[in-house]
Amino acid sequence: MSRHPAWLDNAIFYQIYPQSFCDSNGDGIGDFQGIISKLDYIKDLGCNAIWMNPCFESPFLDAGYDIADYYKAAPRYGTNDDLIQLFDEVHKRGMHILLDLVPGHTSWNHPWFKASMKAERNEYTDRYVWTDSVWEEAAGYGSLRGISERDGSCLVNFFTHQPALNYGFFNPERPWQQPIDAEGPRKTLEAMMDVMRFWLSRGCDGFRVDMAGSLVKNDKDGKGTIALWQKVRAFLDKEFPEAAIISEWGEPDKALEGGFHMDFLFQSGPSHYNDLFRCEEPYFSSRGKGDVTAFVDKYVEYHNKTKNKGLICIPSGNHDIDRLARTLHGDELKVAFAFLLTMPGAPYIYYGDEIGMRYVEGLHSVEGGYRRTGSRSPMQWDNSTNAGFSTAPVEKLYIPLDPAADRPTAAAQMADPTSLRSEVQRLIALRQAHPALQNFGEIEFVHAGYPLMYLRSSGDENLLVIINPSAEEKRVEYAQTLGTCIYQLNSAVRQDGNTLVVPAQSASVFRK
Ligand code: GLC
Ligand code: CA
Repeated sequence: MSRHPAWLDNAIFYQIYPQSFCDSNGDGIGDFQGIISKLDYIKDLGCNAIWMNPCFESPFLDAGYDIADYYKAAPRYGTNDDLIQLFDEVHKRGMHILLDLVPGHTSWNHPWFKASMKAERNEYTDRYVWTDSVWEEAAGYGSLRGISERDGSCLVNFFTHQPALNYGFFNPERPWQQPIDAEGPRKTLEAMMDVMRFWLSRGCDGFRVDMAGSLVKNDKDGKGTIALWQKVRAFLDKEFPEAAIISEWGEPDKALEGGFHMDFLFQSGPSHYNDLFRCEEPYFSSRGKGDVTAFVDKYVEYHNKTKNKGLICIPSGNHDIDRLARTLHGDELKVAFAFLLTMPGAPYIYYGDEIGMRYVEGLHSVEGGYRRTGSRSPMQWDNSTNAGFSTAPVEKLYIPLDPAADRPTAAAQMADPTSLRSEVQRLIALRQAHPALQNFGEIEFVHAGYPLMYLRSSGDENLLVIINPSAEEKRVEYAQTLGTCIYQLNSAVRQDGNTLVVPAQSASVFRK
């Protein structure tokens, strides 16, 4: 196995969207001190690691994914010292924290971009991807045109206000397309490693990397981008061997080849992630049709290709997709978490998913969220003013709260042993007590359909997971003995000769 930071063996991540987690000073926006005040809540849930979305200086046209200064915390969250205090408080609790690194683009307000718009050559001329005439756009990409003294169009990476940083072209086809080893692309990568060095040396434990697979252009098979990340990994192994990186790439074979310790399966990409949770008839809903084979086949393919290289991570959700509770309800959520917390790879729980926070319908877009805004509403702590998120007047909240009278809260669910949060807590404790269930434990699928069955193993420990999300009892051939049941959600599995009878909406784990 290629070396990885030891803390990844049993890391369970909690994703914090800083704007919406906890507001300590009553301005309506979450902040670092608010997060610090809730670290014990995260620890109590059982998570021992955090990924926090971007928290840097920004005009916030894309919620902070449009960075104007990589070295400075956005004042609305606090100072750099507050952020460093957050790192320390995390470490005091035996936890780790990843920041969000956005290497693909900056805000159009970034001083680098302003310098690169100048007609005269300067240090930043090649920091972004520009064509050499304003009349030429880059085929296949959006571009910024007619905004500069410089004669050229600048490639856009995502929204129009996010010009693409220049890491070169794998197959340059036009004179302005620089090869990946040209000076401009090399300097961009050095600048990004400097940003990493800055935060790692102040106590952060690594990064979630935004759009990690998109850095080198004209790179169909990802070879150029893979080579680029291999350089970053070599730098980390040398200077910060305990740091971890996870990619928003969605193709683990490429991402882990590039040196990432972990890659996300998510909404886009070939992984069939959406079949499970977010489609018309998701596999994990009781109205699902039981077809999980496309997901399992792809997962097994990735697993075999990436064996021993790192982790494939299946998040409960994130700030870009609908809340899990938009498509799954009641026990369906518990069953889905039984899956998420017994699979290999590091689990990632999006804040509020542990209490089944709902997607807030009908909101206007906030800071470039558009449809995503409904998944970014303030955390619901308790029944006090603004659900305990903030003391600000309600109209000053960053995003409106879920208006439902029966909206779930952390406090109510902590007091209720039958709540979703209590189930998630139990599942995390189970995972932490059994190395076979942890991040690097082996997996072998036994049955893909209703039920889903897989073996998890590590050393001498062999565990069988049986999950039936459907509304009906299911039967499946199984000639072996089941062993001892160590976890059970809802009714118990029965063995009837060579047949297993698996109750509706149930999940169980057996020690073989
Ligand atoms: C990623 C982020 C998303 C952002 C985009 C551009 O997909 O997760 O929130 O808008 O990249 O940075
Ligand atoms: Ca605040």
